[in-house]
Amino acid sequence: MAGLPKLEVTIAGVTFKNPIMVAGGTFGYGVEFADILDIGRLGGLVVKGLSSRPLKGNPEPRLYETAGGLLNSVGLQNIGAEAFVKSKLPALRTCGTPIIANIFGYSLEEYTEVARLLNATEGIAAIELNISCPNTDRGGIEFASDLQLTHRIVGEIKRVLTRLPLFVKLSPNVGDIKSCARAAADGGADALTLVNTFLGMAINVETRRPIFANVVAGLSGPAIHPIALRLVHEAAHAVTIPIIGVGGVHKVEDALEFMIAGARAVQVGTANFYDPQAPIKIIDGLAAYARRNSLSDINDIVGSLIT
Ligand SMILES: Cc1cc2nc3c(=O)[nH]c(=O)nc-3n(C[C@H](O)[C@H](O)[C@H](O)COP(=O)(O)O)c2cc1C
Repeated sequence: MAGLPKLEVTIAGVTFKNPIMVAGGTFGYGVEFADILDIGRLGGLVVKGLSSRPLKGNPEPRLYETAGGLLNSVGLQNIGAEAFVKSKLPALRTCGTPIIANIFGYSLEEYTEVARLLNATEGIAAIELNISCPNTDRGGIEFASDLQLTHRIVGEIKRVLTRLPLFVKLSPNVGDIKSCARAAADGGADALTLVNTFLGMAINVETRRPIFANVVAGLSGPAIHPIALRLVHEAAHAVTIPIIGVGGVHKVEDALEFMIAGARAVQVGTANFYDPQAPIKIIDGLAAYARRNSLSDINDIVGSLIT
């Protein structure tokens, strides 16, 4: 095979120089990592969840290690979309990597407010909608756990986003991922990101109290990878829009599994905490895999699972 393998992927009109992105909430606002790794080499950079107003987040402890996993209860602490645009984006937008803004809210109004602000901002390539949030107008049920609500919120945000593509990030804490994927796609999603963290908990056996003030927390890391892979595989058969796989990726084989199962791109999350070079190693690993397997274009492996 002559020349370098093509690693470039295109999702909803956005071209990423390779399929490896960093996942929302595990890479801060991106700028913090600029001294640790060459963020310009990343395929995409998802910044931590942004809301219309600053949020203080949950009380300590916020993190707890489990076997092969991490429980977190950060509570979506962030400086707010406006402060992000003013204080973080100017440095970030020069890095040469498409910036994806992950957004959330506790009501439809909060979601649309932040979407409208970011839609009018230069330097953002796409919006990733986190629908794993409790809806305070509906007694706190997660947006993602109701198909009609999923369809509605995706439709509303799509209307607000006149210039940016919409990636919808699905929750794994649902009965049927295929129906959720279809509801988001029918609502107007340009791509889907799967998956967010799995609900879990941990107990201090001496005090018999939950580790976290909220009792439940989100599980991420290698422990969830096989389940996330199954969900990506199912969703890839349910919709035709591109899928971005996320969950427990820390080595190139994990990313390849997602792609073979149907993901066009892959996000690295928890691995950034214990090996900040993981995304770069995975990008190099993809190029090596393509060369070893005489693949001229990494896109050729997407959905290539043989059953
Ligand atoms: C500390 C922490 C904070 C997170 N914050 C967000 C967030 O703000 N928005 C979001 O959509 N997902 C958030 N996530 C979920 C991750 O983006 C990712 O979907 C999940 O952790 C699974 O991937 P991983 O196993 O590679 O970490 C967070 C995860 C962790 C561990």
